Amino acid sequence: MSPQPQAAVGRPVSRVEGRLKVTGQAKYAADQTASGTAHAAVVDSSIARGRITGLDTAAAEACPGVLRVISHRNAPTLPYLPNRGSLNLPGERLHVFQDDRVLFHGQPVAVVVATTLEAAQHAASLVHVQYTAEPSATDLTSAPADEPTTYARGDAAAALASAAVRLDLTYRLSRMHHNPMEPHAIVTRWDGAELTVWDKTQWVQSTRDELAAVFGINPASVRVISPYVGGAFGNAARCWPHATIAALAAREAGRPVKLVLTRRQLYFGVGYRPAYEYRLSIGSDLQGRLTASVHDLRSETSRYETFAERGVLVPGRMLYTTPNVTQSHRTVPLDVNTPTPMRGPGYSTAAFPIESAVDELAHELGIDPIELRRRNEPENDQASGLPFSTRRLRECYTVGAREFGWNRRNPKPRTTRDGDWLIGMGVATAVYDTLRAPAQAHVRLDARGTAVVESATSDMGPGTYTSMSQVAADALGIDVPQVTFRLGDTTLPQAPVHGGSLTMASIGSTVQDGCDRVRQQAIALAVGDERSPLYGADPAAVVVYDGRLHVKGDPARGETYRQLLTRNDRTHLEATGSYTPAQSRASMHAYGAVFAEVAVDARLGMVRVRRMLGVYDAGRIISPKLADSQAIGGMVGGIGAALMEHTVTDHRDGRIVNANLAEYLVPVNADVPALKAIYLNGRDDQADPIGVKGLGEVVLVGVAPAVANAVFHATGRRVRHLPIAPEDLL
Ligand code: MOS
Repeated sequence: MSPQPQAAVGRPVSRVEGRLKVTGQAKYAADQTASGTAHAAVVDSSIARGRITGLDTAAAEACPGVLRVISHRNAPTLPYLPNRGSLNLPGERLHVFQDDRVLFHGQPVAVVVATTLEAAQHAASLVHVQYTAEPSATDLTSAPADEPTTYARGDAAAALASAAVRLDLTYRLSRMHHNPMEPHAIVTRWDGAELTVWDKTQWVQSTRDELAAVFGINPASVRVISPYVGGAFGNAARCWPHATIAALAAREAGRPVKLVLTRRQLYFGVGYRPAYEYRLSIGSDLQGRLTASVHDLRSETSRYETFAERGVLVPGRMLYTTPNVTQSHRTVPLDVNTPTPMRGPGYSTAAFPIESAVDELAHELGIDPIELRRRNEPENDQASGLPFSTRRLRECYTVGAREFGWNRRNPKPRTTRDGDWLIGMGVATAVYDTLRAPAQAHVRLDARGTAVVESATSDMGPGTYTSMSQVAADALGIDVPQVTFRLGDTTLPQAPVHGGSLTMASIGSTVQDGCDRVRQQAIALAVGDERSPLYGADPAAVVVYDGRLHVKGDPARGETYRQLLTRNDRTHLEATGSYTPAQSRASMHAYGAVFAEVAVDARLGMVRVRRMLGVYDAGRIISPKLADSQAIGGMVGGIGAALMEHTVTDHRDGRIVNANLAEYLVPVNADVPALKAIYLNGRDDQADPIGVKGLGEVVLVGVAPAVANAVFHATGRRVRHLPIAPEDLL
């Protein structure tokens, strides 16, 4: 078939649903009001480990408007059948209200259902719970660990022992919480045995399958609807215990129930990026060529599930030429709730130690940090032995250094001043896997030349509605406003989790496939129709744009979809597109080079980021305006990780002491300078049919070490933990 002109893809299209969002017409989960909806408020535990010995609900039950108070004392036994399809982890997910055990501070111990939110919250405050507390462990650094996941190539110990230069470094990364604007919210309604759910989720199928498994019902009896998501960053990919609570409450109360977690409850009701301790030894020769690296990691998990991020070990194996590598990653079970992926999961964690250490090595050897990275640029993936599909990291560095003015950097730390401020420039590499997953989409083109394209994916912020409309518009040869893209409903064609930067590749490819099929149907109809100007034309020579089919190079010979379908008494054409990732014969990753300039107050230790530039090799850019939105968001997240974000636990009782946005600091406008992203923008044809490598995750990776390296350059102080606080620099 003739390639379609790409008129919409690559154009800076604004979000097609933007107006609905800024005018309050987009209905998020908590905006749903099924008639007769009751409100739920969760009572959570005030100990980290132990048993519930007393639970007095009389005062709560006596409150006006209270319909039910549910706890392990009166909750029905729930089947909790196995469920492999919802990102559930090794171990066993938290069972709510099934026994008297407390496994972490903040665990749900009761729920109050009332006619108003105020009544539910007030009554919840009156539930009196007594506990027998047992000693708890919540500190990663002092608790025993599980058996490690390991990796080895060559003989790292011997290579380290004989290395010309050797660095042995320990890094600590704080726990972080996603903190999206929209809290987790769910509305559940039972109609007999049928369950309808409006959820905040990155994966409607996950909520459906998990609730079906928990309640022991057929997934076909559960419908999950989630058209809008107000940010998630990974914490809405799994279905969390509050969904079960809401569905249970609705069943017990006999009416729809709405449950919105409070901001405080978001710190233990859903997952988080786990804290890590990362010991790294690297050895090199005097030219800065790495000979060995040893990576020993510990990360926190819960006692009931094991969360071990695969991605945290990947950069250490494949980012730089290193003949000898050993790795071990141990999870440490603690009396905490289970962690979960957070933007750039694993990769952004690993990038901080690795990219800091490489910078440290460059400084020790007196080699420019970009030059040192160039000397270690591998020709293939040393972990898998596979060639890279595309890897343009050298170009990222060349373009970035030029655009950022890297040659103005005096290599000696603490030499550049602006009044009281010490100025520094730092750089770091970003990498993230190109993931893809099977997906389907349905396409229906009607006789007016407008199309509805549907897939059960999600849009947590990257702009799925818009980018998919762009892909569909070009494949059908119509304009973006003629396309309606629908998502976020389990009744739509199957889609994978909206995470891991796999949506554009997977859903984009299936949308293109479905639209190609519909366009081919229209072309076949036209060339076989004696009344069509296209009658008898070679189908492979027909292209479509502006809703009009014509012979390539002979625009006069053609007709519109409307003319063709109307004349043939066809109300519409439709097809289901599908995408199955090809077996990968290449190592596929998105890459980036992140440049940061900081100013550090020499007397106060305060760090201000002054400039930041990311240069990305993420394959083809479908939607440049949305890509910028992703890149800037990722950089802001990275500034938070570098300088602010830090979940603080009181290890005496496992309580998170800053479970709110006043004390869990995130960057605000005043913390964020001009941020710029550049995309090398070339297709990766091995990755997927539309040539993308994924962007949403890689843009967070590398930001924190770029800032940390800039802080070192400004001050001469090497900080090996995150976040970097003013007191670290005094
Ligand atoms: Mo992303 S951490 O997979 O939402």
